Amino acid sequence: MKGFIFDLDGVLLSTDELHFEAWKKIADKLGVYFDRTVNDRLRGVSREASLEIVLERYEGTLTAAEKQELCNEKNEYYKELLQTLNEATVDDSVRETLAYLRKCGYRLAIGSSSKNTKTILARTNLTHFFDAISDGNNITRSKPDPEVFLKAAEYLGLKPEECFVVEDAEAGIDAAVAGGFCSIGISTAAAYGPTRIPISHIRELERIGVESFGEGYRRL
Ligand code: BG6
Ligand code: MG
Repeated sequence: MKGFIFDLDGVLLSTDELHFEAWKKIADKLGVYFDRTVNDRLRGVSREASLEIVLERYEGTLTAAEKQELCNEKNEYYKELLQTLNEATVDDSVRETLAYLRKCGYRLAIGSSSKNTKTILARTNLTHFFDAISDGNNITRSKPDPEVFLKAAEYLGLKPEECFVVEDAEAGIDAAVAGGFCSIGISTAAAYGPTRIPISHIRELERIGVESFGEGYRRL
């Protein structure tokens, strides 16, 4: 194995609460009931597909243009909330694990559906850990389609079978499996059947990394 591709939201940090606040404003405006249980269903789901879930309890009908406008509005709220992110938002164990894997010689990439990936990485000072970023801006199909991970592997110059994908969402694990990657599941995805390697803490990647050195990769 030569690379690790990380989902961002729910793996390296949590933006659940910020998505919740932003979608709640949209739901309140439409008079639609929205709570954290509904918000949990939005994990790993694209912005447009998230809106469809929010609208499940909406009585009226909306045009495509109106839906696009609601997505834009949600994103404006969300971008304001992203201003609250900083280095302290990310647990030390995440930084230490990424640094360790890099020191081992692994190439690291992000594979996230979020179009705000670069802003989030910059605000939390994580950008420098990654050799490549594949995100919502360079894909046409969302997870469970493997496109975002296939692009990440391509940017790293690696084959899917040479990369681990670390995911917290079931749709992300399905995408990893469909793309021929070795899936590592954390949080919700740890208990998901198709997950190849379940983990309970990100630090476990250090052990997995050491056990999976490919030929030519240096040991610490
Ligand atoms: C995923 C999140 O990473 O990105 C989803 O888990 C979110 O909840 C999706 O909807 C799209 O994010 P953005 O920032 O492009 O609206
Ligand atoms: Mg996620």
